[in-house]
Amino acid sequence: IDVKTLRGATNGVITIDPGYKNTGACTSGITFLDGEKGILRYRGYAIEDLAEKADFLEVAYALIFGNLPTEEQLAKFHEDIKENAIVDEEVKKILEAFPKNAHPMGVLSSLTSALTAFNPSSVNVDSEEEMYNAIVKIMGKFPVLVAWTMRKKKGFPLNYGSKKLGYVENVLQMMFEKPHEDYEINPIVKDALDKLLILHADHEQNCSTSTVRIVGSSHAGLFASLSAGISALWGPLHGGANQAVLEMLEAIKEDGGDTKKYMAKAKDKSDPFRLMGFGHRVYKNFDPRARIIKKAADEVLGDLGVEDPILDIAKGLEKEALEDQYFVDRKLYPNVDFYSGIIYRAMGIPIEMFTVMFALGRLPGWIAQWREMRLNKEPIGRPRQIYTGENLRDFKNISDR
Ligand code: ACO
Repeated sequence: IDVKTLRGATNGVITIDPGYKNTGACTSGITFLDGEKGILRYRGYAIEDLAEKADFLEVAYALIFGNLPTEEQLAKFHEDIKENAIVDEEVKKILEAFPKNAHPMGVLSSLTSALTAFNPSSVNVDSEEEMYNAIVKIMGKFPVLVAWTMRKKKGFPLNYGSKKLGYVENVLQMMFEKPHEDYEINPIVKDALDKLLILHADHEQNCSTSTVRIVGSSHAGLFASLSAGISALWGPLHGGANQAVLEMLEAIKEDGGDTKKYMAKAKDKSDPFRLMGFGHRVYKNFDPRARIIKKAADEVLGDLGVEDPILDIAKGLEKEALEDQYFVDRKLYPNVDFYSGIIYRAMGIPIEMFTVMFALGRLPGWIAQWREMRLNKEPIGRPRQIYTGENLRDFKNISDR
């Protein structure tokens, strides 16, 4: 930066750090991440253990409240969520007003924000009890909205879940059940979804989580803060990458499956194309979630008997990138979303819903971060800038300009 262009001096030193690559915005006891060593832990529990041994609701509880729950704590949490697993009937009218081809992330963000209007008690929450009530409300209602965005796209009638089912089973039931047809939950699909949601549940101060914290820091309500987080997640450089990965893999397949051609495109600086699903702001050796998910993709596709040529293209790209100097030099490795879309596709989830599934997984992380920020009584988020615009100018009447 040319210092002569810096105007509007402030009282002290301002650090310019575009993209906040090296700026901490808070202290946090939720997620530990070591990008060099490829370590990810929620509340001190290794992501590998959680993905293998826990279910999504247990992980959600641990993220939000700090420890893995006892059976009793988990049962109460689940009961309270189930009590709230309905939305006001008027919300259906809002959903109906959207065009059928609207992107489900836009719909989800709008509906989440709209819930505030129907649940005003969730807005001004100061005590832990008020926070808890807002949390179980959104944990109950969010899966309904997720299922409805997909049902709207498919032209299915809007439904509610069953109190008899587990959290993740209920999501599947709400998404896939058809009128006058029994829906049987496939345990392989349920386990895979549990795993995917756990792997996406938190990732410290990423773009959407920082958004939730900064919006929440103005004491806007939880649902409004989450709605902003959903919008941040939508972008292809963040959560939207899982949709972009599959679209890219399909385009490569349609184009004859020549992965080398696309590797060359990704390296060509005059071409804006990037290899979607590669690279990460903090993981510079490997993304531990990608390892778990790659194995899961093999298992799920094998168990379901799905043969997907897209998986072969994905493996080919990964192999080539690992041996390519451009990718090695820049430490670009497959991230969590390189394989997640392949699993979602095998489950029968439409491509446009992939980022919505990411949001469903990230919900407890956003909630945990929002709760921590409120309990820490953090000040309102307000970054500074260095002004590089015009100095004071004379005002000219419009007829003289
Ligand atoms: N393909 C080709 N080149 C890449 C890629 C890629 N996927 N990612 C980064 N690069 C190159 C950049 O062009 C740059 O090269 P240069 O140094 O020669 O200019 C260098 O690697 C560093 O890239 P930055 O964009 O500066 O890295 P940053 O940390 O800001 O970005 C990001 C990280 C956004 C994830 C980036 O790697 C990317 O765009 N990846 C593809 C999108 C993606 O998969 N996003 C999902 C992220 S994970 C998640 O949100 C769950």
